[in-house]
Amino acid sequence: MWNKLFRDSRPPGGDAGNPLYNDIDRSRLPVHTAIIMDGNGRWAEGRGLLRTAGHTAGVDALKQILKVAIDLELPALTVYAFSTENWKRPHTEVDFLMRLFVDYLSKEIDEMDEDNVKLRFLGRVDELSPALKDLAKTAVDRMADNTGVCFNVAMNYGGKDEILRATKEIARRVQAGELLPEDVDETLFESCLDTDGLPPVDFVIRTSGDMRLSNYLLWQAAYAEFWFTDTNWPDFTPARFVEALKAFGKRKRRFGGLKNK
Ligand code: FPP
Repeated sequence: MWNKLFRDSRPPGGDAGNPLYNDIDRSRLPVHTAIIMDGNGRWAEGRGLLRTAGHTAGVDALKQILKVAIDLELPALTVYAFSTENWKRPHTEVDFLMRLFVDYLSKEIDEMDEDNVKLRFLGRVDELSPALKDLAKTAVDRMADNTGVCFNVAMNYGGKDEILRATKEIARRVQAGELLPEDVDETLFESCLDTDGLPPVDFVIRTSGDMRLSNYLLWQAAYAEFWFTDTNWPDFTPARFVEALKAFGKRKRRFGGLKNK
């Protein structure tokens, strides 16, 4: 249903002529792809560079992957930029990442807007630095009416934290007499998550060899397909992304039932 709703609501376009996309079955692309961009540090260390150089290279990879999502008109792409657990890293690395996010946003806003991208942030954005928070708000407001790829950046995000925040919000409403406990169903719960209005995640990609979810989109990925690669994030090229998307197209999805979808 989501696939149809999202695809029918957007104008035709994209870069259909790029040979990279030749053998893709567009009717079998994921509606909501979520990426764990892991391995920036290992990429840098393997080259005798500082870990921060890996994050800088990671930004370039992300720009290319977002372009593929735009070309293929993927309805939604969510990337894990900074988790609620990433604050445990040395403060020099955290500071670098926060500056990198500011830099990325300020440089990319215009192009994203031209590409009709609709930007959104997931997580505790209110706890970020004033500069990053302001820039995030400016960017989100500016792209609010765009109708292209829903590009979601999970920043200061944790799946457990998101579920707890939603639970507290529902408990507060029940306590205030606005809701009855029996009113709480999946639809209501989802409306209290940061992803309110977005389709469920149907494809999770994780780079750099580890095979875990790391507190990412725990509710939303309930029926997602997973794709893991040893490639470190900075080396995750459009061709690798296309390979993953093609693999998704071949998956048989039963959602707990018996019929393939
Ligand atoms: C994982 O590498 C990556 C992150 C902690 C997130 C940072 C992502 C980027 C900088 C990509 C660009 C993102 C945006 C939003 C501009 P790691 O440090 O955990 O690598 P390691 O596992 O090899 O140490």
